[in-house]
Amino acid sequence: MKDAEAGIRGSYWLETAPPVEPAPPPSGDFSVEVAVVGGGIAGLSTAWELVRQGHEVAVLEADRLAAGVTGHTTAKLTALHTLIYDHLRRTRGPEGARLYALSQSEAIRHAAGIVAELGINCEWEEAAAYTYAQNPGRVAELRAEARAAREAGLPAEFVTETELPFSVAGAVRVSGQAQFHPRKYLLALADDLRRRGGAVYERTRVVGLTEGEPCVLKTDAGVSVHAEKVVVATHHPVFDRALLFTRLSPRRELVVAGTIDEALAPRHMHITPEQGTRSVRSAPYGDGKRLLLVTGEHFTPGAADVDKRFARLSAWADEHFPGLTITHRWATQDNDSTDSVPLVGPLHHGSRHSYVATGFGGWGLSGGIMAGRLISDLVGGREVEWSGLYDPRRLGSVAREGMSFLKHQAQVARHFIGDRLPAPTGPRPEDLAPGDGAVVRHGGHHCAVHRDESGRLQAVSATCTHLGCLVAFNRAEQAWECPCHGSRFAPDGRILQGPAVKPLEKRDL
Ligand code: FES
Repeated sequence: MKDAEAGIRGSYWLETAPPVEPAPPPSGDFSVEVAVVGGGIAGLSTAWELVRQGHEVAVLEADRLAAGVTGHTTAKLTALHTLIYDHLRRTRGPEGARLYALSQSEAIRHAAGIVAELGINCEWEEAAAYTYAQNPGRVAELRAEARAAREAGLPAEFVTETELPFSVAGAVRVSGQAQFHPRKYLLALADDLRRRGGAVYERTRVVGLTEGEPCVLKTDAGVSVHAEKVVVATHHPVFDRALLFTRLSPRRELVVAGTIDEALAPRHMHITPEQGTRSVRSAPYGDGKRLLLVTGEHFTPGAADVDKRFARLSAWADEHFPGLTITHRWATQDNDSTDSVPLVGPLHHGSRHSYVATGFGGWGLSGGIMAGRLISDLVGGREVEWSGLYDPRRLGSVAREGMSFLKHQAQVARHFIGDRLPAPTGPRPEDLAPGDGAVVRHGGHHCAVHRDESGRLQAVSATCTHLGCLVAFNRAEQAWECPCHGSRFAPDGRILQGPAVKPLEKRDL
C-alpha cells in the first residue's frame, strides 16, 4: 500500500516468499496443446494437473505468478464458506449442497497430498474453521448452517465456545481444514510444472482470443499463441462471450496483519458475517510470535473511504487482540457470483475448446484447487460428479439467482447511465492535494486526474476500457477502480487488474 502508515508493509505473502526472477515473455509465435491464461491459484492448479496428466501446457500471466489476488488472500483452505450450506440446500437442493461440500473437501485433501508428495515448505497447518456470531439474534441461523453442513457431509457442529479472546453467542465448527502460505505453495507448484515440461511466461498480457481449431491468443506484444484448448483463469474473465460479467459482482476486502505472542494467537480460522465481515487466522512467524491476520470491511471497488475502513479494521483488531503490533496491511478482491457458486467449466454455450474458472467469492483457494482438478478432467474428457454444479452454463435462471442478480444489474446500470451525465461539480485539478485524484470534465471528456507526491498532475481517460463505466479514485491504494466489474488502473493508466485488457488513455489537461 503506497500511503500506508510509516513502516507498515504490504502483502505478507509477497514479502516472505523466496524471490524469483520473472519468467520472460515468449520470444515469438508458438503452438501448444493447452494455453492457460492467468497464473493465480486456479490457473496454476489447472496447468499443474494437466502437465501431470501428460498434456503440453503453457501458462501466460499478465504480471507475476501468484502475485495478484492469490498473493493477497488470507489463505484459508476450508469447505466452510461462512453461511453457504443452508443457502445451497434451499437453492440447489440437498444433493447440490453435498456435491459442494465434497468437491471443496476433496480439493483440500488433494492439496495436502501435493504438499506431502512434493515436500513443499508452505507452512501447512491443519486447523478447524469456525463461523461465529456475537449477536444472539443470529444463533438460529448458525444452528441451521451447522445442520445443513452436517447433512452435506462435513464434520460440522454447533458450539458456543471458541478459542477467541471474546465471547460468542454461537458458532459452526468444522474440523480437519487447513491454512498455508499461498505463494510458497504456488511457486513450488510452478517449479514442478516446469520440471515436468510445462512452460510459464510472465509479464505477458493476453489481449485477444479467437476460438477455433486451433484457438488463437494474441498477447500485448503481438505474439500469437495457437492452442487446441484455452483456459481463462484471470479472476474476472478477460474473454467473456457468455456475458458472465452480468453474473459477477466485484468486492474488495481489507487485511491488517501483525505480530502477537504465540500464546495469545488463535490457531484455528474464524469468520463472522457481522460488522461487514471479520475473518481471523494466524500464521507461523518465529521468535515466540505468530502473525495475526484480520480481514474485513468489504466494499465495491472505487469507494472513497478506504482509509477510514482500514482504520476501523485496525481498531477492531487492536480492541479484540490486545498486544497486537500491526506490521502489514493490504487489500484483496473477490468476485461474487449471483447464485454464490463459482463458475467453472465451458466458457460459453457453444464452446468446445475453451474453459473458465471464476466467481469464487472469498473462497478462491479451495475453489481454485477444485477448479484445477475439474477443468483438467473436462479437458481429458472425464466425467466429474460435480461438473453440473459449477457449470457456468447453468446461469440463465434469474429465478434461482433472484435478488442478487437484479441488484447487481441495477448497480451496473446506474453506473452506465449516471457516468454518461455531466460530472457534478467536484474538485478542480488545481485544488487536488498530493496523493489525491478526481474525475473532472475537461474538453468534453471525463478525465481521471491525479496529483503525485511531487505535486505533478497527470490525467488519463476516466472511461474504463472494459465496458465504459467511469472509474473512481481509491486514495488509500493509489488506484483508479471501476465499480462495474472491478478493473483497476495505476494513476498513469496502466492496468493493475482486469477484466480490462487495455490501459486508460493519456489525456492532456
Ligand atoms: Fe467493466 Fe469497468 S470493469 S466497465
